[in-house]
Amino acid sequence: MQAAQGERLEVLLSAQQIASRIQNLGKRITLDYQNKPLILIGILKGSFIFLADLVRYIDLPISVDFMALSSYGSSTKSSGVVRIIKDLDHSIEGHHVLVVEDIVDTGLTLNYIYGHVKSRGALSVKICSLLDKPDRRQVAVPLHYKGFEIPDEFVVGYGLDVGERYRNLPDVCKLVRTDA
Ligand code: IMP
Repeated sequence: MQAAQGERLEVLLSAQQIASRIQNLGKRITLDYQNKPLILIGILKGSFIFLADLVRYIDLPISVDFMALSSYGSSTKSSGVVRIIKDLDHSIEGHHVLVVEDIVDTGLTLNYIYGHVKSRGALSVKICSLLDKPDRRQVAVPLHYKGFEIPDEFVVGYGLDVGERYRNLPDVCKLVRTDA
């Protein structure tokens, strides 16, 4: 895909690398949740492609729900002030929950979601994130399943955006500003 003017895209993780890592995560989740009622909660919008691929590698009778949040930050910085735009459709009581996120940066968003979901009576709550930027962490969040650790770079593609652009890139790419 052509980058917008003033921007360049550098592939950080190829579609192939991502697919093989997700297959591996799916296998682990399948083993860990044998005979356990499991709900996957995708955090919109960034996790939509990751979740869609991940569930197809989980060989269990799962269900799927979504939450959408807005963060009062700029397009490239998270403020940590989070508001729920779409809450869960169904009760999670009596179920094990796996929260599926695109990326953990400061950890503020997931810290909020983790507390919120834990207060809803699930049997257990675990977190699965495709990407982890550990250098930027402000609050510790338990990452039970992780795709890749990446350096402190702003990335787009495979569901991740900047101002709603580039979500449909098949690779995860570093976004380089060429006009700075
Ligand atoms: P946190 O609250 O700082 O951990 O930020 C988490 C959210 O910020 C993610 O769910 C993304 O929506 C967004 N975010 C953080 N880093 C990036 C990035 O490199 N590219 C795109 N979105 C990002």
